[in-house]
Amino acid sequence: MFSVDFPPEGPFKILQFTDLHLGNRPEKDALTYALVEDMVNDQAPDLLVFTGDIFTKDEAFQPTLIAEACRRIDAFKTPWAFCMGNHEGTHGQDGVRAQKAAFMVSQSQYLLFDSGPKDVYGIGNYAISLKKHGKPAWTVFLLDSNDFTFHMIRGVPSRVHDAIRPDQIAWFQQTADTIRNLHGPVPAVAFFHVPVPEFIDAAMFEPYLGDRGQKVTTPPLNTGFFAAALAQRDLRAMFVGHDHTNSFCADVLGIPLAYGRCSGYGCNAPAQFPRGARVILLWPDESLETYPLLHRPKQERGSRPAVYRPEEKRSGPVYDRFHFFPQEKMY
Ligand SMILES: [Fe+2]
Repeated sequence: MFSVDFPPEGPFKILQFTDLHLGNRPEKDALTYALVEDMVNDQAPDLLVFTGDIFTKDEAFQPTLIAEACRRIDAFKTPWAFCMGNHEGTHGQDGVRAQKAAFMVSQSQYLLFDSGPKDVYGIGNYAISLKKHGKPAWTVFLLDSNDFTFHMIRGVPSRVHDAIRPDQIAWFQQTADTIRNLHGPVPAVAFFHVPVPEFIDAAMFEPYLGDRGQKVTTPPLNTGFFAAALAQRDLRAMFVGHDHTNSFCADVLGIPLAYGRCSGYGCNAPAQFPRGARVILLWPDESLETYPLLHRPKQERGSRPAVYRPEEKRSGPVYDRFHFFPQEKMY
C-alpha cells in the first residue's frame, strides 16, 4: 500500500480535480492546465486526486497527451492519484483502460497508482495510507466505477453505466478490515468517478451545500457499496465526479457524499460555469472539512485572484465540518 506523511501541523490537504477531459477540445487544454497550476500553487496540497475523465480524445490511447499531462502534474513534485472515469475507454477487448493506466505509471515519478488485485474487477482499486508520526491516521481508497454494461430498460437492451462490482466491494471491506485489525479504527475516504445511487438521496432528500446543476447520473443497479461502507464503519466520505455541473455535498446517514468541482474547460459544461477543484481537509482528530474553490482564467481575472472560495448555496442546515460518531455495526 502506498503511504504519504501528514504535514507536521494541521490537517492533511487533498485537492480533488475532476473531469479534465484533456484532448476533448484541445484549444481548451491550456486553460485546464492553468487551472490545475493556479490551484496547486495557491493551495499547496499534500495530495492531488483526479477523479476520472482525465483524457477523453476519442477514448483512444493517446500517448502524447498522457505524457504531457504526466509531465505537467509531476512538475508540482506532489504525490498524485487518480481513478478511472467512464471516458477512459473500455475494459473490453481493446484494453485501452489498462494500457492508459500502465503508460501513466511509466511516465510519472509522483503518481501513486496501482491497477489493483488482478482477480478484482476494474483497473485501479487501491489504497493510500496517510501517516502521522509513522502511524496510519487516514486511508484514501480509490475505486474503478467502471465503464458501461447492458441492462434491459423497459424491454429494450440498453447501454448504461456499469457499477462498482461486488468483488470490488469485497476487496474494499477486506482491506479496510485488515487496517482495522492491525491498527484499530482508521478513518477513510473513497474516491471514484460515477456516483453511487445514494447520491440521488443526497440530492432529493437531504439538505445540501453547493451547486446542483443537473440530474444525478448513477448506474441503474445499486450494487451496495454505500451499505457495505456503512457496515464496515471506517469510511467517512465519498467523492466523485462525472456530472459536470453538480458540485454539492450532502450528508446521507452520516456519510458526506460530495461531487468534486469540474476542472476541465474542455468538458461539456456551459462556458459560463466556473471550473474549479474541491479541497478536502482530513484532521488528525478524525473530523473532515470540505469545500470547493473556483478558478478565474487569466483573461477574465484583472486584478482579482485566480482562485477563490465561493459562497455556496445552502438548501437547508448543513455542516461545514463533519465530526463523526461511532456507527453501530449493521450486521
Ligand atoms: Fe466527464
